[in-house]
Parts: sequence; C-alpha cells; structure tokens
Amino acid sequence: MTPSNAEIPSSILIVGSGVFGLSTAYSLCKNPLFKNTAITIVDRQPFPTPDGSSIDTSRIIRADYASPPYARLATSAQTAWRTTFSPHYHETGLCVTATSPSQTYVPASLANVRALGTDRVQVLESAEEIQNVCGLQGKGERGREGSGCTGYVNWSSGWADAEGAMRYLRLMVEEMGRVRFITASVSRLLIDHTSSLVSGVKLGDNTTLTASLTILAAGAWTPSLLDLRGIATATGQVLGYLPISSAEQAALESYPTLLNLSSGLFMIPPSSNLLKVARHGHGYKNPTTIPNPESPAGEEITVSLPYTHVDDPSQSVPLEGQRAMRNFLEQIHPSFSGRPFTKTRICWYTDTRSGDFLISYHPQYEGLFVATGGSGHAFKFLPVIGDSIVECVLGRTPDDFKGRWEWPAERLPETLWDGDGSRGGPVGMILIEEIAKSASKL
Ligand SMILES: Cc1cc2nc3c(=O)[nH]c(=O)nc-3n(C[C@H](O)[C@H](O)[C@H](O)COP(=O)(O)OP(=O)(O)OC[C@H]3O[C@@H](n4cnc5c(N)ncnc54)[C@H](O)[C@@H]3O)c2cc1C
Ligand SMILES: *[C@@H]1O[C@H](CO)[C@@H](O)[C@H](O)[C@H]1NC(C)=O
Ligand SMILES: *[C@@H]1O[C@H](CO)[C@@H](O)[C@H](O)[C@H]1NC(C)=O
Ligand SMILES: *[C@@H]1O[C@H](CO)[C@@H](O)[C@H](O)[C@H]1NC(C)=O
Repeated sequence: MTPSNAEIPSSILIVGSGVFGLSTAYSLCKNPLFKNTAITIVDRQPFPTPDGSSIDTSRIIRADYASPPYARLATSAQTAWRTTFSPHYHETGLCVTATSPSQTYVPASLANVRALGTDRVQVLESAEEIQNVCGLQGKGERGREGSGCTGYVNWSSGWADAEGAMRYLRLMVEEMGRVRFITASVSRLLIDHTSSLVSGVKLGDNTTLTASLTILAAGAWTPSLLDLRGIATATGQVLGYLPISSAEQAALESYPTLLNLSSGLFMIPPSSNLLKVARHGHGYKNPTTIPNPESPAGEEITVSLPYTHVDDPSQSVPLEGQRAMRNFLEQIHPSFSGRPFTKTRICWYTDTRSGDFLISYHPQYEGLFVATGGSGHAFKFLPVIGDSIVECVLGRTPDDFKGRWEWPAERLPETLWDGDGSRGGPVGMILIEEIAKSASKL
C-alpha cells in the first residue's frame, strides 16, 4: 500500500540484483532523502548471476518505441549510454525487418519514419538493400527469406555489453559504501496476515532479514515469492552462441543488429569472437506447482517459473529452438552453416499482459513494493530505471506511466493477454513438452 505521508523507510531490503534491483539501490544511494536508510540487496546467486536475465554478452539499445512514455525514457537512457556507460555501448544501428503481413509493427513504424524524415533512419525497400546494409552473405532466395523484404535501419540505435554494464553499475554501487550485499535464497516473504504487514523475508536456512520496506525485484522468479497469477509470468527465450575467428569478428562487428520481427529471430554484432543469435518470441512456459507464496495454509497454485542451467547444468535449448536459430543463421550467413553452437541458453522474460513494467506498492500489503515485469525490453533502461522506481517508491509515479506501471485493478487470465505486439515465432509452447520432443528425436 502507498504510505499515506510518503515516509522515508529506515531500512530497505531489495530482493534481486538484476537491472531493476541494482539500479534501485544505486538511485537510493544517490538520493539525499534516503541518506539515513539502511540498504540491503539479497540475491540467490553471487554477482553476476549466471542465469540472471540482465547478464549476457549483449542487449539491444533503442529509443524507437511506438509508446511515447517509453520513447521518452529510452531517449534519456540513451544519453547515459552515450556518456557514462559509453565503454559498454556500441552504436552500430538496428535493422528491423518483416515479411509476413500479420506483422504490423514494421509498416506502422515505416509510416512514422517517412513522416518524420529523420536523417539517421534509412528505409529499406528490398531484400538486396537489407543484405547490403547488414552485410549478409545470403544472396539467393533463402537469403531473401532470412532478412525479410521490408524494413528500416535506425543508425541511432545500438547494443550494450550487458554483463560489462552491470559490472560497472555494481562497482559504482559498491564504491558508495552504503549497500550491504548478501548472497542467499529468499524462501518467502514475512507476511503478517492479521495486520497485512510485510516485515522482510525468510531465507532458505530459516533465518530472516527484516526491513521497513521490502522491494521485490526477483525478475522472472518473482511469481515464486508473490501470487502474480493474471499479472506477470515467466517465459523462456532461446539463445545460441558460436565462436568465430578474429577475421570474421572484424568483418561483422560494425554492421547493425538484424531483427526479423516476423520470426522474432535476431543477431547482434559479435563481440570477443563470439556470435550470438536469439529469438524475441512468445517463449516457453514452465508451469510449476508450488505452495501459494502468500498463503499460510500453503494450498497449491500453478505458475510458470524459470528453469535454467543453474537448475540443470546439462540444459540446452530444445530442438525446435535450435533449428529456428540454425535456419536463421544459415539464411543470413551461410558460411557458418555446419558450425555448431558451442553453447545454448534459455533466458527468462518476466512478461506482463501489455509489456508494461510492474513498478508499484502492493495494493494489500504494507511494506511491500514490486519492481519487475521487464517483458523482454527493460535492459536499455539500466541507467535511468532506478530513478523512476525511487520516484514511484516516494508515491510520485511519473504521470505518463500512471495506469501502466501500477498494480492492475484486475487479474486477467493469460489467454486474454494482448502482449506488446512485438513477438514473433511459435505460440503456446511448454518447456517440458519441447524437451521431451527433443529427447525422442535424438
Ligand atoms: C534473451 C533475452 C534478451 C533480451 N534482450 C533485450 C534487449 O535486447 N534489450 C532490452 O532492453 N532488454 C532485453 N531483455 C530484457 C532485459 O534483459 C530484462 O528485462 C531485464 O534484464 C530484467 O531484469 P530483472 O532485474 O527483472 O531480472 P534479473 O536480471 O533476472 O534479476 C533478478 C534477480 O533476482 C534473483 N532472485 C530470484 N529469485 C530469488 C530469490 N528467491 N532469492 C534471492 N534472489 C532471487 C536472481 O538470482 C536474479 O539475479 C532481454 C532479456 C532476455 C532474457
Ligand atoms: C531512431 O532512434 C532515435 C534515437 O534512438 C530515436 O529518437 C528515433 O525516434 C528513432 N527513429 C525512428 C523513426 O524510429
Ligand atoms: C526450516 O524450518 C522448517 C519448518 O520449521 C523445517 O522443516 C526445516 O528443516 C528448516 N530448515 C532448515 C535448513 O533449518
Ligand atoms: C523471417 O521471417 C519471415 C516471416 O516469418 C520468414 O518467412 C523468414 O523465413 C524469417 N527468417 C528466418 C530465418 O526465420
């Protein structure tokens, strides 16, 4: 519940040290209002979290949102990427393409681009133009398919070394000397059901961490600590990595990121002789039955939760996903065909019904705030999202995000979620079913 007189908490416990949690800690440290507040971050893994969504070789940084509030926020984030965070940022452009008429994002954006006449944006009208701009090898029919037929490149977009930027922010937080870092797994919130007060968390060893305000920023794991049915859910996205030579690295590193919105498949320029392809899709659900995290009686509920290479070190992407990435790569860079991915990974989005973040006090429990719902697009906001979260903690949700970031008035069955309209690829996949199909085909 929003505190009536926006009192400054004497202690704040942040659960999760990803984009949302770490940036919140940094903003709290900088804000004089919180100069007497004790700040703690607890994460289940030592930093950098090996299976955290915020830790990877690369993330796309762009400001071309259709939604004005996100475009505004992304523009201010990009200013920071170009300055404070510049060692971790590469402005090589982003080329967005689409083939299927059901993908309306590209035509709609194109209309915008043409109307605005921005000089850093180049409309691409044919497969050849896309191939030239993106440095693709695929020249035949297959190459055409892989890159799509219409699109545009925004030369003002780029990509960031995600792990590098997270390490840099972590160092800045450590240097402020204000935050106590704890590595431990939170098993549940300490909820007093009589007073509806949350006073901290219980850890796996049954010890507790108490605080006047608990901020849940556990990413895709958040639904294991709070009943978020109808509000947010974990979806698994696929990634594949392939080592390349220094000559190949040099040949590819300055081209733009290529994102095929029809399939969701994309390739960010390689770094450190490692090429990565991934799919921005509807993802895998992993329905898991757990005791209701909010209920003292502990009746069971079923929610989708992450299942990662930390849970199963032998985990690899199901065949379906490997094939999709393989086909994409063969179509855009046939010279890599036959070279296997040396590593694949499932990375978990925290999806909401609309793709809006969830940055809000809990409507029922006092002392509980939630900062999650990244919906596969939060990384770019790393330099600025903490400041916005702290504004929301102070009861000052930015006007243009009111009704977007706040706790939704109603829970909506997932079958009725619209999403953010940007996802491609197959719909409705269940992780264990795809794993079983892969096993039967080996
Ligand atoms: C494959 C992929 C590609 C993406 N591409 C882009 C992109 O190009 N551009 C972009 O802007 N965004 C992108 N995103 C989205 C962006 O990376 C995420 O929105 C963002 O990183 C989410 O941050 P987070 O803090 O919510 O989650 P996380 O980084 O996962 O942090 C949550 C933390 O909570 C901890 N935790 C969980 N449970 C517990 C517990 N019980 N006790 C203690 N600690 C716990 C975890 O260990 C973890 O460190 C992508 C995401 C993925 C997965
Ligand atoms: C291109 O990117 C710039 C900077 O990120 C952004 O301000 C602009 O809106 C984008 N243009 C289009 C047409 O998407
Ligand atoms: C924690 O407490 C529960 C219930 O009191 C008990 O069953 C469990 O063994 C305890 N775990 C540890 C690690 O002490
Ligand atoms: C790009 O998307 C279109 C439409 O789904 C598809 O026809 C094409 O094959 C895609 N490319 C790849 C490599 O998936």
